[in-house]
Amino acid sequence: MNSSNNLLVNKSNPFIGTILIPGDKSISHRSVILGSLANGQLSVKNFLNSEDCLCTVSAMQQLGAKIVIDNTSLSIEGLGLTQLKEPTNTIDAGNSGTLMRLLTGVLAIQNFNSTITGDSSLINRPMKRIIDPLQACGANIISDNFKAPLNINGNINLKPINYKQEIASAQIKSCLMLASLFIDGTSYFYESVTTRDHTENMLEHFNYKITRSENISTIVGRQMLTAKDVIIGSDISSAAFFIVAALISKGSKITLPDININKYRLGIIHVLQKMGADIKIYNKRSESNELIGDIDVTSSNLSSITLDGNIISTLIDELPILFIACSVASGISKISGIEELRHKESDRIKSMEEGLKAVGINVSSKHDSIEIEGNEIHGGKINSFGDHRIAMSFAIAGLVSKKSITITNTKNICTSFPTFVDIMREQGAEIYEI
Ligand code: S3P
Repeated sequence: MNSSNNLLVNKSNPFIGTILIPGDKSISHRSVILGSLANGQLSVKNFLNSEDCLCTVSAMQQLGAKIVIDNTSLSIEGLGLTQLKEPTNTIDAGNSGTLMRLLTGVLAIQNFNSTITGDSSLINRPMKRIIDPLQACGANIISDNFKAPLNINGNINLKPINYKQEIASAQIKSCLMLASLFIDGTSYFYESVTTRDHTENMLEHFNYKITRSENISTIVGRQMLTAKDVIIGSDISSAAFFIVAALISKGSKITLPDININKYRLGIIHVLQKMGADIKIYNKRSESNELIGDIDVTSSNLSSITLDGNIISTLIDELPILFIACSVASGISKISGIEELRHKESDRIKSMEEGLKAVGINVSSKHDSIEIEGNEIHGGKINSFGDHRIAMSFAIAGLVSKKSITITNTKNICTSFPTFVDIMREQGAEIYEI
């Protein structure tokens, strides 16, 4: 586990062989929240044992669920929908927007009051997007300018939800879907851009009946979730760092087994293939109502890409590492419709633009777009602004950089990928904690 706050990465040898990626973060959060709301005992395998997901475990324990952690396995004794208990302390969501937004949907409709807060990054992220639709149904959430801490006065009589997507966000949809489980009546969810559907898939896995088409889902509240074991596929967002590493480091050839390949998460693969990447997905199978597959990646010459529109939500978390791929691709890449990046763990357009300029790449940005001119990466010192995905993206850039790349503020890698530095070392990367 990387406990140092700065990393230095030198040009390294190609990556070869099999790399085991930890469990999917989005599904790990949902397994703990929904598992705790199920009736009965269940186990979770390949759980992501990272800071973000451990915050979700603590939160559900505070609400009364019995959860035992054994490395990447969990055993959960679910409470059902009616037995959550009032937390004695403020719930700490740490760095996790997913936890704060999803759990607020549950807390808004309890017969008790609660407060949820987070770290210095999370308390600056927008929560109006969940507060407004919850309040439209009768929820009572008090905040300072729609930022955490959120003081939630529980109201068990929320009206059914009629959600019409304004921002393409699985967190908003999932927050409201979780609230709808407790609501008497039928709630409707309309998305013009369909976002990751892990919540819907897990509800069905727990035998909770919902109706679904590509754009509309309906949920009748107050049914039962039946406890069932969950096996989580490995996280494509974490895999993306090693996919790009193998593509840009000549002579690489890697295999990534058991990756979750949910179609609303596959944008990064489609885009890299369009840029000329040799990536193969095979051995596709279904596990716990999600699609899983193995991925082979061989180093490739990449060309620039122009991107915009619905595909953005299917690679939203992979944009920082995609920008690294664009930085070494031939030609100028232009990626638009990415304003949401300004609201992540850091302002990722700004963090990436500053970092890329510092290592010698020509970049320019507007409020919702970026242009990157592919070239040789020279090296230098960059600030990750405490954002895990920025830190890991520049660590991968260091593998092909002329001179070393030093990255400051890298502790947050532990929020999503605690084994990242270890895997880099196993692959022979010259990476040092300084
Ligand atoms: C997530 C949805 C995405 C993503 C985040 C995880 C989820 O956020 O960026 O890392 O688990 O639902 P938005 O819903 O805000 O796009």
